[in-house]
Amino acid sequence: MRINITFCNWKIQNPEKLQMKKISISSSLFTENRKKLSSLMMKNSAAIINSNDILPSNADGTVKFIQNSDLFYLTGIEQEETILLLDPGNKDKEHREILFIRDYNPDLEVWEGKKLSIQQASEISGINTVFELSRFESALHDLMCGTDNIYLNTNDHDRSKNIVESRDIRFINHCKKYYPLHSYHRISPLIYSLRALKSNTEIELLQKACDITGDGFLRLLKFVKPGVMEYEVEAELAHEYMKQGAGFADYEPIVASGENACFLHYIKNDDPCISGDVLLLDVAAGWANYNADMTRSIPVSGKFTKRQKEVYNGVLRAMKGTIKEMKPGKTVRDIIMVTRELIAKELVDLKLVKASDVKNIKNKSAEFKKYYPHDVSHFLGLGVHDVGEFDVPVKAGMVLTCEPGIYIREEKLGIRIENDILITKKGNHDFMAGVPVEADEIEELMNS
Ligand code: GLY
Ligand code: MN
Repeated sequence: MRINITFCNWKIQNPEKLQMKKISISSSLFTENRKKLSSLMMKNSAAIINSNDILPSNADGTVKFIQNSDLFYLTGIEQEETILLLDPGNKDKEHREILFIRDYNPDLEVWEGKKLSIQQASEISGINTVFELSRFESALHDLMCGTDNIYLNTNDHDRSKNIVESRDIRFINHCKKYYPLHSYHRISPLIYSLRALKSNTEIELLQKACDITGDGFLRLLKFVKPGVMEYEVEAELAHEYMKQGAGFADYEPIVASGENACFLHYIKNDDPCISGDVLLLDVAAGWANYNADMTRSIPVSGKFTKRQKEVYNGVLRAMKGTIKEMKPGKTVRDIIMVTRELIAKELVDLKLVKASDVKNIKNKSAEFKKYYPHDVSHFLGLGVHDVGEFDVPVKAGMVLTCEPGIYIREEKLGIRIENDILITKKGNHDFMAGVPVEADEIEELMNS
């Protein structure tokens, strides 16, 4: 779920409305992002970046709109049918950046409320030249008559499936049909290299998302008890996040008790939490489109069994040992191997596998995979599985998750612990350092 940013421009004589202002990001973040992107583009080129579509559900229904991360990164605009045109070499300074937003439509306004005005779109994005979308085709034609090289956006995440034809793909086909002799280029390698490095403003937004996530977890420690339904736990978290003006991060909450915790992306959340089970919570808040991603595993009854605590502490040691190694110069692939070594040792100590089963950590054996099927990290930011390269050394400013786990289906037990880590010049900063994670601490809070 994404939250809507409410940019408040009410006058001071409405103080109660002023309080409703939720998040205000300075337009300088987006102006700076466009500047950095323009400096990476080849000479005599232009870029056109589209918003996402509003996706249909059933009948005349639609799913809640989620903005295209690249367009948001460059403009801060959360509205559908928005296009950014960057033409850094244009002789006319006012035409180097043009933003197109939906035309004013009084009939639509009756149903959907006010859309952004030209003035508001300009204030949010820091772009001087904002036109209604009906002027886009003629602006495109002008651009194409003077420019050979055009960058277009696509979803190039290595795990994206691209099953549904996106607005990006429709636009690429449109350009190729009407302007077949131009050279088209992918803008994603340029934008992704920028998005992987977070600015101070983005780091603050991520910290806020993590803080709200921590508040939700603290609230839950007092709420979870035998007999509570998984969906009640989800509702409790939704209440805490929304009360603070946030929403769920951009993934479905995973509230998985007992054996359900062994299904990595279990999202049904419709079973009861039973005394003696461990409840795995992979749920986090999103703030201004920036995502936290946190996992905690807690005993439903408020007390881990001896065996559960052994497994829990093994996973926690793997998380702490991995976080120590998350520093500039290491690749994500290196970090993944560190965790595999640590988890392998824990699996042997827990007598789940033999040492010979976990000898080759590069190619996990079936026995190793059975108890540790995933790996430890992904980039985090505007996407939950954000953009970033796994085989190049990480740099200060990158944000990664650290999420080891051990899953023992025959014991109906799955434990994962996940914190979000900012790489810094000196090592790292744990965004979730303040969120309880020690087994004893969790037990104490659940029973206080
Ligand atoms: N939070 C879900 C995942 O990282 O896959
Ligand atoms: Mn994660």
